[in-house]
Amino acid sequence: MTRSPTTVQRFYAALARLIRPYRWDFSVGLLATAAASGLAVLIPLTFRGGVDSIVRHGTSAPLLLYGLAVILLTISKGWGEYLAYRCIAGMGQRVAYDLRNRIFSHLQSLPPAFFDRANTGDIMSRATSDVEGVRMFINWSLSSFLEMMFLFIAALVLMSLMSWQLTLLASAMFPILGYAVMRFRRRLRPRYLAVQEQYGRMTTALQENLAGLRLLQAYRREETETARFREINQELFRRAMAAAWERAIYLPTIFCLGTATGGVILWFGGSLVMAGSLTLGEFVAFIGYVGLLTRPLTTLGWMISLAQRAVASLGRIEEILSTTPPPTVVAQAAVSAPAPAESVREQPIVVFQEVDFAYNGRPVLRGINFEGRKGELVAITGPSGAGKSTIGHLIPRLYDVSAGHVLLQGVDVRDLALQEVRRRVAVVPQETFLFSASVAENLAYGRPDSPPDVVHRIAHEVCLWESIQSFPHGVATLVGERGITLSGGQKQRVALGRALLYGGEVLVLDDPFSNVDAETEERLLETVRSAARERLVLLITHRIKTLQAADRILVVADGGIVAEGTHQQLLAQGGLYRQLYERQCLRESLA
Ligand SMILES: Nc1ncnc2c1ncn2[C@@H]1O[C@H](COP(=O)(O)OP(=O)(O)OP(=O)(O)O)[C@@H](O)[C@H]1O
Ligand SMILES: [Mg+2]
Repeated sequence: MTRSPTTVQRFYAALARLIRPYRWDFSVGLLATAAASGLAVLIPLTFRGGVDSIVRHGTSAPLLLYGLAVILLTISKGWGEYLAYRCIAGMGQRVAYDLRNRIFSHLQSLPPAFFDRANTGDIMSRATSDVEGVRMFINWSLSSFLEMMFLFIAALVLMSLMSWQLTLLASAMFPILGYAVMRFRRRLRPRYLAVQEQYGRMTTALQENLAGLRLLQAYRREETETARFREINQELFRRAMAAAWERAIYLPTIFCLGTATGGVILWFGGSLVMAGSLTLGEFVAFIGYVGLLTRPLTTLGWMISLAQRAVASLGRIEEILSTTPPPTVVAQAAVSAPAPAESVREQPIVVFQEVDFAYNGRPVLRGINFEGRKGELVAITGPSGAGKSTIGHLIPRLYDVSAGHVLLQGVDVRDLALQEVRRRVAVVPQETFLFSASVAENLAYGRPDSPPDVVHRIAHEVCLWESIQSFPHGVATLVGERGITLSGGQKQRVALGRALLYGGEVLVLDDPFSNVDAETEERLLETVRSAARERLVLLITHRIKTLQAADRILVVADGGIVAEGTHQQLLAQGGLYRQLYERQCLRESLA
């Protein structure tokens, strides 16, 4: 067998943990299922009584009672089934609800390094269709398996009380059925896994294409991308069909077995009646029981495929939930912020000590040393890919250093609680991202309780006020997919405003003016300068005007700081900075 027993054991352990909070619903559902099954096995018994009374007394008087009993039993059984379904299906919905919440909140806790490797479509399919797989299993398989178990036990006991020979004969089909079912399980599971996997690929392709639709159209890639998608979709179709064929073969096999048993009962049971060792009522009851047992057997295939899907799905969900952040992120010694005593105020806010950093083992930064104090505007410049943004990532602990230390007011950021670090450091990332919310909500993202006048003041400070006046609903205008589309420069200014409003002791700005014109740049620089009075501002940029305005410039190349000084000092030194400067002046004079 290809499946190790531990997969299934892990599945049941995980399922038990999911169900535990709802053991009350589960117990009531279980009892109701048992009751409904108990009532179901009484129905053939009532038929036996009715038929035997016809044969024995030849009067129709008791038949009314038997008929009424059957109706009453059927109605009560219906109620039991209704209650059982309500409890079990409700539990399935609750478990799915919990799982979705757990996955979402767990994803929030994972460091960016996880998402560098993970694939969005795959995560989305785990959070949606895999959760649905688990819910379907609870909803259908769990109650059906229980019902089947009760039915089998009760019916087999009653049947063997009437005729053990006939019961043995009827049971002969079980080993054959067991064999068919085992084969079914073995062949279906890898096929369902393959379907799920391809489903993830399809969602990824869809998501990427939607995100990059403009680019795709601009580069006339519609046909290529459509062809690529068709290929992925074709593979999904092929795999889903393979799974469907497999199911199609086995279902009729199981049907056949059930019906064949009925034939055997008719032949052997009929002769028992004629020999006088079985009453006609018992014979009728037997036929009823075989029918009762065959019905759940025919859905057994479906139940098993649901169960297999659920094993695969829950495995994939557990894979996400068991991804733990690296130990350094979890080990939060939670040193509280040092009191801002006079001596501390003298201390640099941010210190890099011999910092090395590697992305997945690929070294990017080597031996970085620098200090930044309150009131300083420190610019970081250098060629593309030098590691500037990476330096910015290390301060709010989006990533952790491989060696050396990043100190925040004298304390290694790894010794501070993550929340504490993030409270003290505001960031404007290089890639601007706004949420599908109003302009005001985006500005106040880090401080949602900001009063409107604070939001308005910030909008003024980042030179957004005039643009906002032209929006249909002012600051309440929705941006993003549900609202208006902001220009690149407008987005950048919203992102800058968001970070300014958030506050903190350190402000990291990654290329914040790349999309704004020179005049706006000057006005924004003033805002940033005045923000720097109360904090340390680290500003990553290539723009000469911004560099000139900085108190100090760090020139980063090839993962190290190669020069440090003011604009004038660095120009006088010559070297890389001068080269970068001259190239940019040339570009501007040509423009
Ligand atoms: N998430 C990541 N995973 C792996 N490697 C990365 C990641 N981000 C950046 N890198 C690599 O690290 C190096 C430094 O990247 P970084 O983004 O710090 O450069 P940069 O100096 O900010 O460049 P630019 O001026 O173009 O923004 C690059 O070689 C890049 O390929
Ligand atoms: Mg960068």
